[in-house]
Amino acid sequence: MNFLANKKVLLTAGPTYEPIDPVRFIGNRSSGKMGYAIAEVFAEAGAEVILVSGPVNLQAQHENIQVVSVETAAEMYEACHEHFDSCQVAILAAAVADYTIANPSDIKIKKKTDQLSIDLVKTKDILKSLGQIKSDKQILVGFALETNNELENAKGKLEKKNLDFIVLNSLQDKGAGFKHQTNKITILDKYNKITKFELKDKSLVAQDILAYLQEFVQKMKNN
Ligand code: CTP
Repeated sequence: MNFLANKKVLLTAGPTYEPIDPVRFIGNRSSGKMGYAIAEVFAEAGAEVILVSGPVNLQAQHENIQVVSVETAAEMYEACHEHFDSCQVAILAAAVADYTIANPSDIKIKKKTDQLSIDLVKTKDILKSLGQIKSDKQILVGFALETNNELENAKGKLEKKNLDFIVLNSLQDKGAGFKHQTNKITILDKYNKITKFELKDKSLVAQDILAYLQEFVQKMKNN
């Protein structure tokens, strides 16, 4: 399958780290495995992949993958906006911090008081911001990780962020989510189609997403 030949794909993967001081940060448990699996499968299908990656213990293998390493949500936002224009497809699989530290300290914070509060401010929503500027020809895909009201929440995100389709992970499914080599997804698209997939290895999930994209491109042409 070579249907992404001459196509450029923007991908995000992994967590972001939001610094508290020079030695501490707020992060999350994302391993980046899902995003990196998509990068390999898409590169194999002929795409030039720009992989904007938070801090992970993974290495991209395919020579058509260009890794842009970032640490914070703000850096990920900048990198995505730098590359989005030149890409035909963008898939945002990163677990971006929703909040960052309002005033990170330049020096290590000492333990003085019994209690310590840290002020947090919202990060910019990268996916939403790309949805606001995307052209009719660009395909924008988001991820949603939900614990309850999964389909309803995912549909809300699809519409609010102007996505073409959204890949839903439910934490209620055993073997799905951050820690696992496997995942179980449901895809909802802007034509109101809902497709449920079985639990499988993340590289096979990436194949399903690629196949879905191929069908979706066909559907877009017919609409
Ligand atoms: N995302 C992003 N930039 C952010 C936050 C999230 O690009 N600052 C992207 C993620 O990569 C993912 C999708 O948005 O594709 C997740 O949607 P979001 O609404 O952030 O989900 P939650 O973090 O679960 O938000 P909520 O607390 O509203 O459920």
